[in-house]
Amino acid sequence: CGIIGAVGRGDETLDVLLDGLSNLEYRGYDSAGVAVSGGELSVAKRSGELEVLEDALAGKSLPGSVGIGHTRWSTHGPPTDENAHPHMDCTDTVAVVHNGIIENYQSIKEELAAAGHEFESETDTEIVPHLIEAQRADGASFEEAFRHAVGRLEGSYAIAAVLEGSDTVYAARNDSPLVLGVADDATYLGSDVPAFLEFTDRVVYLEDGEVAELSLDGWDVTTLAGESVEKDVRTVDWESEETGKSGYDHYMLKEIHEQPRALRQCLQERVDELSGTVDLGDDIADAVQNAESIQLVACGTSYHAALYAAELFRSQGVPAQAFVASEYVTSPPPHDDDTLVVGVTQSGETADTLSALRDAQRRGVDTLAVTNVVGSTAARECDGVLYIRSGPEIGVAATKTFSAQVLAVNMVAAVMGNGSASHEFVSALRDLPGQVQTVLDETNAREVAERFVDSDAYFFIGRGYDYPVAMEGALKMKEISYKHAEGFPAGELKHGPLALVTANTPVFAVVTGETGSEKTVGNVKEVEARDAPVVAVTDGRTDVERYADEVLEVPETDPRLAPVLANVQLQLVSYHVAKQLGRNIDKPRNLAKSVTVE
Ligand code: G6P
Repeated sequence: CGIIGAVGRGDETLDVLLDGLSNLEYRGYDSAGVAVSGGELSVAKRSGELEVLEDALAGKSLPGSVGIGHTRWSTHGPPTDENAHPHMDCTDTVAVVHNGIIENYQSIKEELAAAGHEFESETDTEIVPHLIEAQRADGASFEEAFRHAVGRLEGSYAIAAVLEGSDTVYAARNDSPLVLGVADDATYLGSDVPAFLEFTDRVVYLEDGEVAELSLDGWDVTTLAGESVEKDVRTVDWESEETGKSGYDHYMLKEIHEQPRALRQCLQERVDELSGTVDLGDDIADAVQNAESIQLVACGTSYHAALYAAELFRSQGVPAQAFVASEYVTSPPPHDDDTLVVGVTQSGETADTLSALRDAQRRGVDTLAVTNVVGSTAARECDGVLYIRSGPEIGVAATKTFSAQVLAVNMVAAVMGNGSASHEFVSALRDLPGQVQTVLDETNAREVAERFVDSDAYFFIGRGYDYPVAMEGALKMKEISYKHAEGFPAGELKHGPLALVTANTPVFAVVTGETGSEKTVGNVKEVEARDAPVVAVTDGRTDVERYADEVLEVPETDPRLAPVLANVQLQLVSYHVAKQLGRNIDKPRNLAKSVTVE
């Protein structure tokens, strides 16, 4: 998930790379490695913290002035030494680091294996050094071989390669950031500026389809076809603290904006628009198709995704119920032979959720983990695992992982029906990341937050698929603003909470889709009649706007997916309320990202 490269620092190369990796730690990672090329090519890589790699290298020198390094956050294969980057070819002369996902790696891997190439890892990345090796064996230069290899790749990548005996690093990108750092005596490469900001503040941003050459003579950028490209060298004036957040004030805001990308990654290779099918692999298909009933266990934000999933699965005719994990353990519900227990957990390490999953396993029930972290405890212990592929989430308040969880369980629901979904639904899935981008671009959430920042409390209501969003909206608000906030099923409001509603307690009404929306509009009228301000989060399918003081609009989509869009608006409202109150948004008081005690 992080790349560093350095050319021209002589004996300091290894130290520079390790510094760079340490600067990239904030991005989250589960393994790290370096390759240094001098007369020989030396590679060292370890799963775990950077310290493990540093200990392995203690007292060793890796001679050479050309090097690349990587922190990996697993997407294909668990965090092991073998799966850590750099990856090498059969002759151990080419080393490659990569961020992103190579979509067509399987077919290339089969082609290379048929030609006699042997692979040591489960990663998609490993095909790249082998492609370079194959070209070199046919007489290509390092540069020709690198260009040819990159030309074969589909998907997202930021790639850097070194070759034994060569003083050049070649690098290329598509849909994954890569930037050069330019100094008088050396050139650097980073997946992000903070990787090398301590060495230089002069940078050259690479664009998709460009190839960078970093050598002892300097640097050059060309197109993949080899045509020269004029690049501007810019000076960045960010403090390193700021660059860690890619220019955003907080990780939470950065992660909210990363949602379109996270959703695309979640869909990649799994949804085929042409055939209208969803493919999550045979293991998951068997598990969900054999399940006569489903019990979901989760905590916090993940519990809200589980609530949503339960309703979605029920709409497929499968009895499904969501449980707060700690309650599930306290009072386990009955199950039968064909019950499937699904643990929804971003981190895969939440003790309450693990405990519920283990309880189910002890009772002989099959388990499936829906998680973001490859190789996490939930992923290892459950019978099956579905990765949501959001990339690391650093802000304590979960944002992009909720959206990806909702998307992932929609794919599970499609698999329940033998993997075939309607063409309309598959197109709706494909369009969702772009619609999230529209919400991010056009939102008025900050103005809404400014208007209501001084309120006594915030209430959130929704019905059906909008109910978990109301719950999540309230949780986000209390987590980061420290203000009182509650979420209710819209119909429950009149059974008690209405007593709390005043002119200083705005009610956020999530009203998307059609089923039951008119009834929620009725609940909104009840609120309005009691002088409480109403903020409608709506796709415009009802006339709720008539009764609202403020409207947060979302684009129209399939009613099952609209909650993702509505939730993005509420994430932003909470964020801006918390920001105006000067709260510690990324690390709210008393809360932890991953709670590993019951
Ligand atoms: C903690 C975090 C929440 C999170 C919950 C579940 O309480 O503060 O933001 O939703 O854990 O985490 P998980 O990793 O299991 O999704």
